[in-house]
Amino acid sequence: MDHATSFSVNGRAVTVQAHPLTRLLDVLREQLRLFGTKEGCGEGECGACSVFVDGVVVNSCLVPIGQCEGVAVETIEALADDPRVRVLQDAFVRCGGAQCGICTPGMLVAATALVRTRPQADADEIRTALAGNLCRCTGYVRIVDAVAQACDELVRSGDAGAR
Ligand code: FES
Ligand code: FES
Repeated sequence: MDHATSFSVNGRAVTVQAHPLTRLLDVLREQLRLFGTKEGCGEGECGACSVFVDGVVVNSCLVPIGQCEGVAVETIEALADDPRVRVLQDAFVRCGGAQCGICTPGMLVAATALVRTRPQADADEIRTALAGNLCRCTGYVRIVDAVAQACDELVRSGDAGAR
């Protein structure tokens, strides 16, 4: 039976009607029409569906909507307004870190979590931060290079830690 669940998405209060076991991923894409969050494996292995829930990166394919009452969800659509994410996006383009693009929103969510908390990260830390995100196209080197360039740029500009 469907239940009402109220939470916020990208700063906007929403109430959805869904069975409590409906995946947050499906609510975001099918009810809220936020198509930036992608489905890859659908079983918690690839990170394509990553979003922030109360500031923590989660795989939205593993989160039942019944557990979302009162939480704050942030998706890739909202991240576009964060100037540090624009630095990351530019670096992905420059380095060829996005090819087919299926993994890219999830990679950017994971990379955003890193630049928000530890923009001084070295390559090993970047690889660890992205370890939950799979990419079939790039071989990862370009993605790690992109995040490293973005981290360098943010630290040099003094923009790191603004949030
Ligand atoms: S689609 Fe959620 S982890 Fe792969
Ligand atoms: S760019 Fe295609 S899966 Fe990563």
